[in-house]
Amino acid sequence: MYTTLLAETADGICTITINRPDKLNALNKQVFNDLDAAMDMVHADKEIKSVIITGAGPKAFAAGADISEFLELKSDDANGLAKRGQLVFDKIENCPKPVVAAVNGFALGGGCELALACHFIYASENARFGQPEVNLGLIPGYGGTQRLTQLFGKNRAMEILMTGNMITAKEAHEFGMVNKVTSPEELLTKTRETLSLIQSKAPVAVSKIIEAVNHFDHTQEGYDFEIKKFGECFNTEDMKEGATAFLEKRKPVFKGK
Ligand code: COA
Repeated sequence: MYTTLLAETADGICTITINRPDKLNALNKQVFNDLDAAMDMVHADKEIKSVIITGAGPKAFAAGADISEFLELKSDDANGLAKRGQLVFDKIENCPKPVVAAVNGFALGGGCELALACHFIYASENARFGQPEVNLGLIPGYGGTQRLTQLFGKNRAMEILMTGNMITAKEAHEFGMVNKVTSPEELLTKTRETLSLIQSKAPVAVSKIIEAVNHFDHTQEGYDFEIKKFGECFNTEDMKEGATAFLEKRKPVFKGK
């Protein structure tokens, strides 16, 4: 049914696994199409009471948007790409059933933004979070500048976004980004335990909690502004250098234009 995802439901919990482990589960256009369809299925299927999003393989949740799709893009296409990503992530954030990210490795760029769009995050000890877009001459385009700032406050968000540095699961836990850190083996079990507990509560109340919490301090304007600034990066030589350097496995040389 999906080409880039696995989806299976047991005890009311639908586990959606991004399944491109050889590319560290990088989010290409097909992943977004599949995630979009999967969230529609979650909405429609009465058997599904809650959702886990995770990544295939031991190494990555998702290592970001698929950089190999970037080089052909003009500014307008990039705006469209960001808009599309934001719509899918909004569907996750506004899902009336609980959606938890089980982060089992790298959650970088769009992967970190995907985790942030879920209702909360559990992570294994080997998880790493970061927004390394700046290394590619880019900024996040799937809501990262907004959700990170809301979560961390301005100063820490600025540092993470400007350095592109990764943080460990332990640091992400200390900063309030991750609710629980487990061993890799226990990650899905612990996540399912919490979702089973939530499934024993009143479903309508749970869905109203999601609506009310999401209502807090969410202005669409910031997200639209991010799309505009993301698109502008695609007019720069630095962005082409950054993406080319990644694909050629070398350090980029930025010129500031
Ligand atoms: N887009 C496309 N391909 C990606 C990718 C991405 N975001 N992240 C990883 N891959 C691919 C690599 O190109 C490589 O493919 P290959 O085997 O065909 O050469 C494969 O996944 C494995 O990645 P590799 O870089 O060899 O693994 P590593 O363990 O040396 O490094 C990372 C892991 C996560 C540090 C590194 O892959 C990385 O920096 N990825 C990009 C992160 C990023 O910038 N994300 C934001 C994108 S906007």
